[in-house]
Amino acid sequence: MNDALDDFYAELRAHHLEALWRINTKIMPFEPRPRAKAWLWRYEDLARLAELAGKLVPIDRGGDRRVLAAINPGLVEAYGDSVYGATATLWGAVQYLGPHESAPGHRHSPSALRFIVEGSGAWTTVDGVRLPMAPGDLVLTPAYAWHDHQNNSDEPMAWFDGLDLPLACYLDAQFFEFYPTGELQEEGCGGSPPPTGAQPGVRSSLLKYPWRDTEAALEAGRANPDPHDDVLHRYTDPDTGGPVLPTLDANIQLLQAGVRTQPHRHVHSVVYQVFRGRGETIIDGVRFAWERGDMFALPPWAAHEHHAVDGDALLFSITDGPVLRALGLERVLGLDAPQEITGEFA
Ligand SMILES: [Fe+2]
Ligand SMILES: [Fe+2]
Repeated sequence: MNDALDDFYAELRAHHLEALWRINTKIMPFEPRPRAKAWLWRYEDLARLAELAGKLVPIDRGGDRRVLAAINPGLVEAYGDSVYGATATLWGAVQYLGPHESAPGHRHSPSALRFIVEGSGAWTTVDGVRLPMAPGDLVLTPAYAWHDHQNNSDEPMAWFDGLDLPLACYLDAQFFEFYPTGELQEEGCGGSPPPTGAQPGVRSSLLKYPWRDTEAALEAGRANPDPHDDVLHRYTDPDTGGPVLPTLDANIQLLQAGVRTQPHRHVHSVVYQVFRGRGETIIDGVRFAWERGDMFALPPWAAHEHHAVDGDALLFSITDGPVLRALGLERVLGLDAPQEITGEFA
């Protein structure tokens, strides 16, 4: 009988079939078992390595970017080198431009945004619109928008890049084009229609969210904190109130001195970039101590709570919330008690 069963399973495999009862607990666990791990990338490493990249690797014409991407070790364990991301769906990276350097124009189907942690004197041009970048600014480069970056200052410039690229990779939905001249766009040149048949999603009429507006919104939000996120400001498309990009939510949260948020879980994953201050996030019992410029990843359904250390702190973040909500896969669950700390991320 066992031989007959073994033969049966072998025949299934030979026909490229599998019996559900052999894989059901793997593909249908009682709750999410993310392959991505909670992880943190230190700014001192990011900044040092980005600067070293600036010395070692010139930006050639042809659409290159000097980008150091966060690669989640849990995803590498699960998928090898076929998926690169900070979480299964989200790309988080540091992009670096040396003094008087530029990264030429290109466009692509994945959606992207930039958040500036430090430096000034650089701009991103989106469909011919020049957008100067200063600390705290958020700049969008929606799907199929031509974009290039230029640093006209004597200082290097680095910023956070957030994309839905890993998601586009799973979906085999990436399209990419170089700007026709292979150079920077002329200011005022305008956009181009998307490639034939392409159907990019809703595009926010606002491409830059300057820090002064964000700061004012956060200050006003002190009066109305959230128990799980303290003062959370969600960037929105001003016309629809929806997410800034079809696949990505962008948020910034002010963790007020002395406030400890209550833990919760959600299915959307998050990549955080510490904009200001120092603090700690407890993720599934492990304490992640962070400071300015650090980047950290929160996998789906991980319990998490935050608090600032030494005054207020500000966390910028991106999430795949719009995707989960559109697919009906989101779930958000508040937890009653603070987590017991069982370890330290080192
Ligand atoms: Fe790009
Ligand atoms: Fe959360």
